[in-house]
Amino acid sequence: MTRDFISKNAIYQIYPISFCDSNDDGKGDIPGIISKLDYLKSIGIKVIWLSPIYKSPMADMGYDIEDYYDINPIFGTMDDFRNLLSQAKERDIRIIMDLVVNHTSDQCQWFKEAIKNPESPYRDYYIFKKGKKGKEPNNWESSFLGSAWEPVKNEKDTYYLHLFSKAQPDLNFHNEKVIQEVEKIMNFWMDMGVYGFRCDVISAIYKDSFEDGKKTVLGVPRGQEHYIATKGCHQILKRLRKNVVDPHQGVLIGECLGADLDNGPAFLEDELDTFFTFAHVGINQGKWSKEYVDPKVFGKVISDWQKTIDFNGNYLENHDQHRSIGKYIKKGFEIPGSKMLLTLIYTLRGVPFIYMGEELGARDYEKLEYSQCHDCVTSFIYQLATGYGLPKKIAFAKARHNGRDDCRAPMAFNSQAGYGFSSEGIIPWQKYNEYSKFLNVEYETSDTDSTLNYFKKINSFRSESDVLSFGTIEFIKEKDPELLSFIREYQGKRLKVILNFSYKPKKNIIVPEKIILSNYETHIPNQLQPYEAIISE
Ligand code: GLC
Repeated sequence: MTRDFISKNAIYQIYPISFCDSNDDGKGDIPGIISKLDYLKSIGIKVIWLSPIYKSPMADMGYDIEDYYDINPIFGTMDDFRNLLSQAKERDIRIIMDLVVNHTSDQCQWFKEAIKNPESPYRDYYIFKKGKKGKEPNNWESSFLGSAWEPVKNEKDTYYLHLFSKAQPDLNFHNEKVIQEVEKIMNFWMDMGVYGFRCDVISAIYKDSFEDGKKTVLGVPRGQEHYIATKGCHQILKRLRKNVVDPHQGVLIGECLGADLDNGPAFLEDELDTFFTFAHVGINQGKWSKEYVDPKVFGKVISDWQKTIDFNGNYLENHDQHRSIGKYIKKGFEIPGSKMLLTLIYTLRGVPFIYMGEELGARDYEKLEYSQCHDCVTSFIYQLATGYGLPKKIAFAKARHNGRDDCRAPMAFNSQAGYGFSSEGIIPWQKYNEYSKFLNVEYETSDTDSTLNYFKKINSFRSESDVLSFGTIEFIKEKDPELLSFIREYQGKRLKVILNFSYKPKKNIIVPEKIILSNYETHIPNQLQPYEAIISE
């Protein structure tokens, strides 16, 4: 397997419902994506990852798949998708799909059969268990709150497992037929021309045992010690790699919930090309938290992972995370701050991942109300909190904090009504972000100092730099914990990266003379300006 292409070229994530609406129904779609391929090419994008576009009841916005061989009519048709593949190919852009196989939707035909007829062969596609002493089979909690077990209606003392919502029943990877189904799905799309997959919560697919889980730091027993990074999971990944991905010369990217510095490296041994972890985004609490992140702790987490894992999936944003500006950057410093964060993602070892809008320095909503939210996590938390008697305002603050609505605002391409996402007068599926007025493609293209114009520079710099794409990394011990700096080195060539993670200027800093790229027009000698980022020789 070769990682050269994705070491050089960042992967740009599109959340299809929020990208571009071609038919004025307020929802983004595949023809909308096609209409923006020229934009993506113009900013240097060569690989796109699409969040799920399969047929789905959208209980978890497509991460609940009803039919793995069909396109969600919201997004278009199979012909639209084939057209996307060929139009992208014409522009030298490759397409990665999301592969969600830890679970299906409860509306998937397999699950419907399994529920309708306990004797059906599909029963063993899922994890059904008898209860224990009149209660659930074990104490595992779902990642989306509450028990991970749902009682089966009309069947006494029988439950099915769902590590996420009850509309997402887990598949049983002990069943050879399930693995064959997954191979078939992957072959179907790769034969059509898809470059690879981003595999949703892939580290959790193989459950070793169903004993009670230990209490975690937050006091919630998830049972992860029974199903994260198990031997069975590694065997399956090796098999998918060998049987499907390698013959197609494609890539396999994993979302590895629960991966840590000990169990992480094994995922890269003939399995995944790269993977996402959560340590750096969940520093304060939980993986989707919004709180301001302490640069000292952040720097340590980043450097630990960089030192241990050869090929990290480097990201700050995606469809599950709050926009990074609010987490890492002080108000008033958003422009240099967003550029500094991009510099980090583009200079680390591994693969840079960019979430649509991140190239513009997109921000969370200024104002958002519960009635304007669509994420199931937001509503689970809100219902629970109000159920406990918390005032609605506080309940919503908690729900928004851990929910995923902020990052799912429609993309902004221009300053007109509809922002180039949809037409004037159309109500988008989720409200527009207030900052779209000036954080949009058209506006930023004409502003030389914009995040977008910096993005273009750093994106092309990475793809032309062997040092950044293939070099080793060595962190420099800085006395000031708000500075993060490291050396990248390849075949005798070196680059030094210095990042000021603070809004305060830093004095008495020695910066090598030959600055190659920086987020400031002019450098003040022996100083770092707020959030200044420097790449030098
Ligand atoms: C992953 C996805 C998230 C989804 C969950 C369940 O974490 O990124 O959006 O809700 O898996 O599929």
